[in-house]
Amino acid sequence: MTDWWRTAVIYQVYPRSFADASGDGMGDLAGITSRLPELADLGVDAVWLSPFYRSPQNDAGYDVADYCDVDPRFGTLADFDAFATRARELGLKVIVDLVPNHSSSEHAWFQAALAAAPGSRERARYIFRDGRGENGEFPPNNWQSVFGGDAWTRVEDPAAPQKAQWYLHLFDTSQPDFDWTNPEVREMFRGVLRFWLDRGVDGFRVDVAHGLVKAAGLPDYEADPGLTSHAAPAPYWAQDGVHEIYRDWHEVLAGYGPDRVLIGEAWVSPLEKLALWVRPDEMQQTFNFGYMETPWSAPAMRKTVDDSLAAFGGVGAPSTWVLSNHDVVRHASRLGLTPQLPITVGMGPRTEPKPDEALGLRRARAATLFMLALPGSAYLYQGEELGLPEVIDLPDAVREDPTFHRTHGESYGRDGCRVPIPWEADAPAYGFSPTGESWLPQPDEWARLAHDRQVGVEGSTLEMYRAALRLRHEHGLGAGELEWVSEPDSEVLVARTSGLVVATNVSDEPAPLPEGEIVLASGPVAGGELPVDTTVWIRA
Ligand code: NOJ
Repeated sequence: MTDWWRTAVIYQVYPRSFADASGDGMGDLAGITSRLPELADLGVDAVWLSPFYRSPQNDAGYDVADYCDVDPRFGTLADFDAFATRARELGLKVIVDLVPNHSSSEHAWFQAALAAAPGSRERARYIFRDGRGENGEFPPNNWQSVFGGDAWTRVEDPAAPQKAQWYLHLFDTSQPDFDWTNPEVREMFRGVLRFWLDRGVDGFRVDVAHGLVKAAGLPDYEADPGLTSHAAPAPYWAQDGVHEIYRDWHEVLAGYGPDRVLIGEAWVSPLEKLALWVRPDEMQQTFNFGYMETPWSAPAMRKTVDDSLAAFGGVGAPSTWVLSNHDVVRHASRLGLTPQLPITVGMGPRTEPKPDEALGLRRARAATLFMLALPGSAYLYQGEELGLPEVIDLPDAVREDPTFHRTHGESYGRDGCRVPIPWEADAPAYGFSPTGESWLPQPDEWARLAHDRQVGVEGSTLEMYRAALRLRHEHGLGAGELEWVSEPDSEVLVARTSGLVVATNVSDEPAPLPEGEIVLASGPVAGGELPVDTTVWIRA
């Protein structure tokens, strides 16, 4: 079927934390393959793997040293092929991550650049510049790394200390940015795309898809160091030149048939600008982070939904929806916070206030059922189907996220959403690894959330997700139109889509239940009322 992606539910696997077959405490491809039947049973359409390529793992694999090989921690290319074959047998599409903005500093090209002279062909693949100041002792401009600190690092050159250059890294020091004005870089990535397409992948999730091209002259920039490009874009985000690259890649994918996809991780706002990434000759989808950032407020949610459908629909693309991923506080914790936090700073022992876990889970379930009824394609992040919260009490000593280290602990970063997931309540490491090893410690309370404690249990979060995905398919929900029944300022969202009515009570008092047969509910419903923080799907 072509255009499968317009309505697909895509499940994100974070390889180091999904399932560990080798027992070293780090998840791997063989582990993922062994758990694919559970994903088919859940009812998702596609699996997206975060990076499993050769990497020193300074940014959990988003620092790639070899784009065409598997890191030994995760297995081998043969393990990848076995994974992809099994996924196909189970009817699951396979999306892999592509990290084109930067490589690892251990990539052969960067090592060659370090060994080469300023002005050389080797250095021209990255962004090396002379420093400012009399002896070049100041960075070439004032850009800051997304992970904190300067976005420039000076290379050591004992032979000519005064000529030592600086290189740009929008993320960690060990993630040098490529120079995308260089045709050699473009050709290298065409080859990477073909390498994985030849192995049968259905598409790519493109990391930092808004960052590849930097403004000419690399001008200083004062405000908004974050990931999002607002009205006045940073000179490294959302530059027009990126679109030419994606048109080129679109052609590469088209050579493999009509159903391969590019998915942009583009933190771009406003939505009309983000929609430029998914024009018919560019990417097929882009994540809708505006939706993820929308607070638990009915008018705000409704506005984001309407704006998204209008913006993406305006260019003929499906809207996408996402509530959690490996970079943000899990939505089961986020929605239990009053007031809400910026979603990318993480949470830790010193964070105040702490989330109300029961409230967070109730809202998370309601938010998920609302999301899965919407037209378009939805993303799930591993463990959300178990209702996993953010792990807050990780000791500083086990935290690995460079955000935590580069901000000297000011931002806890993302380890709390990356803790290995529980499969079996009574097994070592809850069935994550056969030895009980786990690269991050799992909380004691996770036994009750384990997959085997929820499967077949009526009312469990896992069974709610399974039922939602089954009904979504049966009713063609992702392909439906959305027609609001409630008023724009109502704190209760009621809409009709594909023969169902979806109602979510975001207010602080019970609301009248729309008429009809309830086919699915995110929480207990009785007495003809829709309780607060609850979503129902009703056959009208
Ligand atoms: C976005 C990825 O999702 C994140 O995990 C990573 O740290 C940055 N891009 C840099 O590659």
